[in-house]
Amino acid sequence: MTKIPHDKIEEVRDLTDIVDVVSDYVRLKKRGSNFVGLCPFHAEKTPSFNVNPAMGIYKCFGCGVGGDIFSFVSEVESLSFPEVVRLLADRAGVTIPEQDEIDEEASETEAIYHALRFAARHFFQNLTQTDHGAEARDYLKNRGLTADTVKHFGLGYGINAWDDLLEATERSRMNPHIVEKSGLIIKRKERDGYYDRYRNRVIFPILSHVGKVLGFGARVIDPKDEPKYINSPETPVYTKSRVLYGLYQARQEIRAREEAVLVEGYTDVISLHQAGFTHAVATCGTALTPEQIHLISRYARRILLLYDADSAGVRAAFRAIDLILEKGLAAYAVALPEGEDPDSFVKRIGRTEFDAYLKDRRQDFVHFILTHAGRTGRMDTPEGQADVQRTILRSISRIPDPLVQESYLKLASDALDIPDMQLRKVLKGIGRGTRRNPRYEKTAAERPAAAIKIEKKRESLKINDRVEPLPEEKALLRLMLGKGLPLVEFILGHMALSEFSAGPGREMAEHLVSMYESGKIDRQAFIRGDLGDDLRRMAAELLTSDVEPSANWEIRRNIPVPKLDEDAVESAASAMMLLKLDRVDSAIGELKDEIFKVDRAGDDVRGLQKKMIDLHTLRRTIEERKFISDV
Ligand code: UTP
Ligand code: MN
Repeated sequence: MTKIPHDKIEEVRDLTDIVDVVSDYVRLKKRGSNFVGLCPFHAEKTPSFNVNPAMGIYKCFGCGVGGDIFSFVSEVESLSFPEVVRLLADRAGVTIPEQDEIDEEASETEAIYHALRFAARHFFQNLTQTDHGAEARDYLKNRGLTADTVKHFGLGYGINAWDDLLEATERSRMNPHIVEKSGLIIKRKERDGYYDRYRNRVIFPILSHVGKVLGFGARVIDPKDEPKYINSPETPVYTKSRVLYGLYQARQEIRAREEAVLVEGYTDVISLHQAGFTHAVATCGTALTPEQIHLISRYARRILLLYDADSAGVRAAFRAIDLILEKGLAAYAVALPEGEDPDSFVKRIGRTEFDAYLKDRRQDFVHFILTHAGRTGRMDTPEGQADVQRTILRSISRIPDPLVQESYLKLASDALDIPDMQLRKVLKGIGRGTRRNPRYEKTAAERPAAAIKIEKKRESLKINDRVEPLPEEKALLRLMLGKGLPLVEFILGHMALSEFSAGPGREMAEHLVSMYESGKIDRQAFIRGDLGDDLRRMAAELLTSDVEPSANWEIRRNIPVPKLDEDAVESAASAMMLLKLDRVDSAIGELKDEIFKVDRAGDDVRGLQKKMIDLHTLRRTIEERKFISDV
């Protein structure tokens, strides 16, 4: 490779906005004069990745990586330094003298990129500058695409010949092996030589999210030709499952809206962009994959699925929803009218109405599932209803963030008109049956042996250890016993049973749940001793002695604690917060010990450290009272 002059490198650095480039990989938020986000180099849930635009550097305080814009792109894209400089130079509009010859030994990948870029330019010229392109130009014009749109998406035309591109590459003395490896030409079977893959077709270049040409989709012009689309084969630079059509053009708007619209076809993306919906992307003729969702998650928090109302479209949407939820994104869906695709529909009703349609019809996944079930008659029988409930809960169980999961549980409880405690029970069953979110539950194989041992020990402790409830638990139990249904609903709606100390405290909470479900809190049953001596004693204690939040709480945690009888709800909220903080703090303490032990045994502690970060995140959400939605 020819060496890139030093002043060129500095010119690229000066003209490159590090925040803009990093934003292609990380969702950044401004914090003071810096930007922060989730580190792309290690898994984390609280942002410790910092970008300092004034100094042009980045640093992750979680895993320690850091450097300038060149090292950043080099790391995330696995490119060599000169490759990075060229990539960023393209982006910044700096011309760097081309290498005299592409050094294929040095980088076959670069040679393939070069061939693909060459082909894209060639097809574009065919379409826009030559007589051959007239029919294709007419075709696109009739479909309503403007010249600007054609340019914006770099559309092209492969002329009706066997060797048009082939000859152009030969004239430029390109290596036919590389051109073949790029998927552009195909080896002849019966004799030596190659022929063009895309003939008499409109060409849709498929770009990476940073604008590199990766491959092509090619649509017939003559409706008699088969198949309708010919797509690039997978090549060393193109893996279909990792690419989204239109992302390069859509990423700014997706970032601004924190939402991506997902459609099926190339022409859908293009039409939507032309109509002003520039946050639309599509898969390239395949079903949505986890990698693609991950790619979107760098820019967006939500994915809006535009799907055909036909059954295949609905099935695809169902599948997509679960994958989206698993990746921690929110899933919304909008059904298109029968027989329309986004392209035809936006053309028919126009930008304003289409916008209104998306706003009015968008549904969260719970309502989407429910609506569809209603339409297909699944809600007409009790068995059908149970089935639909389970489907919804199964989707909810895939949400990795427990707090988000909780919100959806409430939403589902409203939508289904079933108390959320009842749903929670089913949800727990699902959690046990299926291995739901891999982020929170690792398989035994992934965990260091020492950690498993400790966990086992803790589990057995839990069962045998019957402990006296903590003061804040007693306050909660007393509130539930004393105030009945509304307080049981409020408290157990925000607590898991497992958060109560094993022993009489938890047993009492369990009984309160079943009583709640039967519609009546029977305080006397405890006092009479129907539920055992332990619970009788405890009920008596709770209802007679002065179980009041102690002033100590306020000092320990800085939590305001009104008297139980003055403001029961507020008092319950404080007690829950205190209890949750106690639980999380003791988990943090245990985990610290565990990390220490595992580390000393020489095992990998990264998984445990991640858990630690999760616990701290959880702790913060408790302190911010995010576990309570309606106080
Ligand atoms: P559609 O048949 O809906 O095509 O396929 P379209 O994109 O709406 O095209 P127009 O509007 O008829 O021109 C949707 C997507 O499925 C993939 C392509 O990615 C296409 O955009 N597909 C379809 C193929 O890969 N091969 C095919 O033969 C057909
Ligand atoms: Mn179409």
